[in-house]
Amino acid sequence: MAGIFVAGTDTGVGKTVISAALLRYLRAQGWSAIGMKPVAAGCFREDGELRNGDALELQRASSPVPSYREINPYRYEEPISPYLASVIAGQPVNKQFILDAYRKLAERADWVVVEGAGGWFCPLTEQETMAELASALELPVVLVVGLRLGCVNHALLSEQAITSSGLNCLGWIGNQVQAEFPLADANLADLRRRLGSPCLGHFPFQADLPMTVASGRFPVPGVNGSILLPILRRLSRSVTLPPFECADKPTDF
Ligand SMILES: Nc1ncnc2c1ncn2[C@@H]1O[C@H](COP(=O)(O)OP(=O)(O)OP(=O)(O)O)[C@@H](O)[C@H]1O
Ligand SMILES: [Mg+2]
Repeated sequence: MAGIFVAGTDTGVGKTVISAALLRYLRAQGWSAIGMKPVAAGCFREDGELRNGDALELQRASSPVPSYREINPYRYEEPISPYLASVIAGQPVNKQFILDAYRKLAERADWVVVEGAGGWFCPLTEQETMAELASALELPVVLVVGLRLGCVNHALLSEQAITSSGLNCLGWIGNQVQAEFPLADANLADLRRRLGSPCLGHFPFQADLPMTVASGRFPVPGVNGSILLPILRRLSRSVTLPPFECADKPTDF
């Protein structure tokens, strides 16, 4: 099995969209792939259980399909920092519990794609942030850069923080989260020049993406193998791949 940690420059930059796309792409290549959202703050109640939209999306994109609780061990109602939400709920995050949950998922699939919450230093416990969780998981990281004003600063800070956590930043994906982003191409070129890790792809803005994702309807236009294949190529150089001959084909899904 192999794992990957999807981090973002901030909240709302497209980590879920890209994690789900990656899961579907890995499955299209013939692997089993499971998504995980270890900590989710911002849940609704369904049949007396807390549920989070990101975790549900990752569950929909997974095969085999684990139970909701396996995918999302920590769920908090308030859409705030996970640490503060855990204080309000009186249920602190225990990193070891997440590591054990991750290992159980990893036994069941060729790939586990773990989506972080918020940005790299998003608080998890009184002492720890997402950085400590990602370090403990020891996974290579893909950084999703939300293309908006301030993204160069956020991307440079995030990349530096990831590497100083001792993790391998495989590369970054520029995600056009806004319909209008003046000088998008110039910003992308600047990001390419300044960041140490390679650009793995550029997701264009898709006006109907929120609806498409919410409905679980795929394919998502623009999210295809030509963008995800470079991630897989780099992954295959840095982790031991599950025993499968990767089909080098741009797969729409
Ligand atoms: N390329 C895109 N075009 C249009 N909308 C997008 C694009 N990428 C993401 N979005 C939308 O932006 C919103 C935020 O994306 P997403 O939920 O994937 O972010 P996130 O980083 O996972 O956020 P969180 O920190 O809450 O987990 C969603 O409504 C999503 O559908
Ligand atoms: Mg998300």
